[in-house]
Amino acid sequence: MVQAMDDGVAAYSDRVVAAVLGYAELASIALGDGLGWYAALAEAGGAGLTPSELAAGTGTQERYAREWLEQQSVAGFVGVVQDAGGEDAGTAQDAGPRFMLPPGAAEVLLHPDSLTTLIPMVRMLWAGVAQLPELLQAYRHGGGVGWAQIGSEARESQAACNKPWFDQRLGPALASVPEIHQVLSREGALITDLGTGFGWSTLALANAYPGAAVVGIDIDEPSIEQARKNARRRGMEGRVTFRLADAADAESPGSQDAVFIFEALHDMPFPVQVLAAVRAMVKPDGVVVVMDEAVADVFGPDGDELERLMYAYSLFICLPDSLSTPGSAGTGTVMRQSVLEGYAAGAGYSAVERLPIEDFSAFRFYRLHL
Ligand SMILES: C[S@@+](CC[C@H](N)C(=O)[O-])C[C@H]1O[C@@H](n2cnc3c(N)ncnc32)[C@H](O)[C@@H]1O
Repeated sequence: MVQAMDDGVAAYSDRVVAAVLGYAELASIALGDGLGWYAALAEAGGAGLTPSELAAGTGTQERYAREWLEQQSVAGFVGVVQDAGGEDAGTAQDAGPRFMLPPGAAEVLLHPDSLTTLIPMVRMLWAGVAQLPELLQAYRHGGGVGWAQIGSEARESQAACNKPWFDQRLGPALASVPEIHQVLSREGALITDLGTGFGWSTLALANAYPGAAVVGIDIDEPSIEQARKNARRRGMEGRVTFRLADAADAESPGSQDAVFIFEALHDMPFPVQVLAAVRAMVKPDGVVVVMDEAVADVFGPDGDELERLMYAYSLFICLPDSLSTPGSAGTGTVMRQSVLEGYAAGAGYSAVERLPIEDFSAFRFYRLHL
């Protein structure tokens, strides 16, 4: 009995220590990214850098650089350059080791266009955790911490997380579903993208369907401003329009061939009203598509890594954002299919269908049938 208890304490303690390590190492990645240290190591290539070279090249402090490099090395994020004899390579001026990025690191840490980019995920969680004092207040007394308050770090990292997928995979994914592709390919098709953020999905839709007129809508003014800038930079301002509006305020009944909501319905405080507005906007032969997290069908304590990740983002970002609006449904990041089905039924849809689009980051595509 005593033995069993000891085992339980030890296992639980190990679990908490693993969480402390995860948190500390997440923070250490945010530090290295923010200081440009990973970029400097990547530039040095296989020759690597000493702490003093890293500090000199990035305008930072050598003592901190050394501590970070050693920590990154023991954590497995940075390697130590070996000389030909297998020894750690030092220099005459600096007898300590030289540090380098291991293979694969640059793709994950430094290539924003890569489908495997992960720095935005780090930045997003960090932006949420930085709101801890306000979160504690909300968790105790109600209310939330809105998207505007979480600030530019969250907006930027959200956009950066999904941009490579929209840029590289959205067109082919939609083309792979004939009944959706056919509607989007109609000459002069009108397409609305609700909760567009920085507009990358709207631009991807316009790219994939040049005959369509695409409108991106978001309630967040800085996001819409940035979306307009992104359209200008790509020379696409004539083909897309970005509007500041609440997705719940439908207009032009029966006008749209297609309406999309990409990873935004679970953030919207009034999802049933939004879906009802969408239903009113779309033509009788139009399509409504919601892309959201590919979470499990039901809650279970043995949830996989995706469930763990989505609950984490929910705690710090999506749920407090949603609950910052009084009367909110408070969906949270983990919007299971049954929850979406409930919202869709409440808004008058006849069915929710999972589309056969696999391998699209951590997302699932649903078609809501009118
Ligand atoms: C998680 S972000 C997703 C942004 C973008 N679709 C993407 O995939 O990167 C959710 C977006 O929904 C927007 N949003 C939330 N509530 C909204 C509403 N009622 N009407 C319009 N946009 C809304 C937010 O401002 C934010 O830009």
